[in-house]
Amino acid sequence: MYQQRRNRILRATPAIRSMVAETILTPNDFIVPLFIDEGENIETEIASMPDYYRRSIDLTIKEVKELWNLGIKSVLLFIKCKDELKDNTGKEAWNKDGLMQRSIKAIKDAVPEMYVMTDVALDPYSSYGHDGIVENGEIVNDPTVEALVKMSISHAKAGADMVAPSDMMDGRIFAIREGLEKEGYTKTGIMAYSAKYASCFYGPFRDALDSAPGFGDKKTYQMDYANRTEAIREGQMDVEEGADIVMVKPGLPYLDILREVKNAVNVPVSVYNISGEYAMIKAAAKMGWINEEKAILETLTSFKRAGADLIATYFAKDAARLLS
Ligand code: PBG
Repeated sequence: MYQQRRNRILRATPAIRSMVAETILTPNDFIVPLFIDEGENIETEIASMPDYYRRSIDLTIKEVKELWNLGIKSVLLFIKCKDELKDNTGKEAWNKDGLMQRSIKAIKDAVPEMYVMTDVALDPYSSYGHDGIVENGEIVNDPTVEALVKMSISHAKAGADMVAPSDMMDGRIFAIREGLEKEGYTKTGIMAYSAKYASCFYGPFRDALDSAPGFGDKKTYQMDYANRTEAIREGQMDVEEGADIVMVKPGLPYLDILREVKNAVNVPVSVYNISGEYAMIKAAAKMGWINEEKAILETLTSFKRAGADLIATYFAKDAARLLS
């Protein structure tokens, strides 16, 4: 049989496959989310995230050193706030001696080259478990933005390299940039969670931080998963407002959005391979239904192929080991 083109020629051996591979994953692509707890020598496995832990600062530092030695350049910090410090204003979020602020300092002291990003949103600090301040049952935008500015400045003061607002309030990127400029933090970056959807896949994360909303849901600020053009608008607006990096979140059910945002903006784009996506792979692997290592590499490569310059993922450490 005569065939003009045989596509299998470029798939024939590992050598030719690696020569023509379009997408190459490296540890430089990864951002590692870390859950931090009060106390000492504490390491608690998160029930809905097998093999993933919430750690006290001392053990977090050990972990950060290991990550750095594996070639990983960035961590994204989340803290579990004590119940008695939670209120509706979220004011613990900008306590200069708060757990987040102490964590940033400790990590930057221990591994100064590690690029430290911090989550900016009120939910871990809110008695309502919402990302903003609640008034008459509503999450109010502008007072929340003022709180997020204070929170961002306090992270910058503690030494954060980049703040990552994940709250989805309107106008917060502009306000945070203005706040950082006014305070002289001209080197602090902003990674905006620009297209963040109201997703059922955040469940395990809310277990990790005890941050599930106490009433209602997050649909008045996080995006409706039916929508696509809105994601492009959010991404473009955040770039105009001063974001250095824009993010799409969740990851796997939103690869189409990731590609569209990547094509629409001229800054690096990140994606968050979130807790529920982690839990699904872990659960199926535990049942013996999929090969975990292969699933990790295939999943992470799909993000990069879809346009991600950076991938926040709970699989970063495993992937860095598999790649080395
Ligand atoms: C909170 C925040 C959430 C995540 C990151 N920041 C949860 C939420 O919006 O309820 C989710 C991360 C994950 O599921 O892995 N602002």
